[in-house]
Amino acid sequence: MSIHKKVKKVTTHALQAMKNKGEKISMLTAYEYSMARILDEAGTDILLVGDSASNVIAGHETTLPITLDQMIYHASSVVRAVDRALVVVDLPFGSYQGNSMKALDSAIRIMKESGGHAVKLEGGSEVQESISRILSAGVPVMGHLGLTPQSIYKFGTYTVRAKEEAEATKLKEDAKLLEELGCFAVLMEKIPAQLAKEVTDSLQVPTIGIGAGPHVDGQVLVTHDLLGITKDFQPRFLRRYLDLYEEIKGAVQHYIKDVKEQDFPNDSEQY
Ligand code: KIV
Repeated sequence: MSIHKKVKKVTTHALQAMKNKGEKISMLTAYEYSMARILDEAGTDILLVGDSASNVIAGHETTLPITLDQMIYHASSVVRAVDRALVVVDLPFGSYQGNSMKALDSAIRIMKESGGHAVKLEGGSEVQESISRILSAGVPVMGHLGLTPQSIYKFGTYTVRAKEEAEATKLKEDAKLLEELGCFAVLMEKIPAQLAKEVTDSLQVPTIGIGAGPHVDGQVLVTHDLLGITKDFQPRFLRRYLDLYEEIKGAVQHYIKDVKEQDFPNDSEQY
C-alpha cells in the first residue's frame, strides 16, 4: 500500500478547469525530495523540475550543461515527495531539438524512469515536429516561449524578449500553434505584460508567466529565488518572501560557535 495520503491530484484537466473558472494557477520549481514535500504540502498546483537545476543546484552559468540522466534523477526525487501537485519535467538542451524521434525517446525516458506527469520544452514552430511526436505518445506537453534560456547564446542576454513587433508577432503565432498542436499550457518568460495578456486572452489553454505580468492564468518562480537562497539574482519581476541565505548562514555560524565552545552536544543531546 502507498504511504501517500489520498488527495485530489492536480491534472492537466484540473488546470484547464481552473482557467475556465478564473482561478489562478501556482507553480514553483523543485529539484529534490525534501523541498518538494514542503511545496506540495503547501498546496502548489504545479511543481516544475526545471533545467534551472543546472544553475541553482549545479552552479553552472547556463541551463545548457544539464543532462537527461540528471533531469531524471532530480525528477524522480520530486515525484517520490508529491501527493497532489502535477510534476512537469523540463526536457534539457539537446534532448529534443531537430530530431523528433530523439525528442520522443527523451520524453518517454522521463515518464518511465522518473514518474513525472508531463514535460516542458522551449520554442515554437522550430520544435513543432518534436511536440507532435511526444503528444502522439500520450505525453502532455507544456510549451515555453519568450525568454528561452536554452537559446541564451542566440539571444546574447537575459533581457526582456518580444518588445519589437516582429518578435511579438512570432510569439503570438507560436502560442496559437502550441495550442493547436495540443499543448496543455504555455509558459511565457520575461515578456511585456500587455503581450502576455493578449496571448492569454487568445488561448483556450492556460498560460503561466514568469516576468510576464499579472494577466496570465498562473505564475511560476524559481523556489530558491522566492526563498532568498540565491543572492545575486535580482530581476524586477522577483518577489522574495524570505532571506534564507542570511538565515541559514546565521544558523550555521551559531552551530560552529557551539561546537567550538563545546556547548554542543550538551547532556541531553547524548546517549
Ligand atoms: O527551468 C526553469 O526553472 C524554468 C522556469 C524559469 C520557468 O523553466
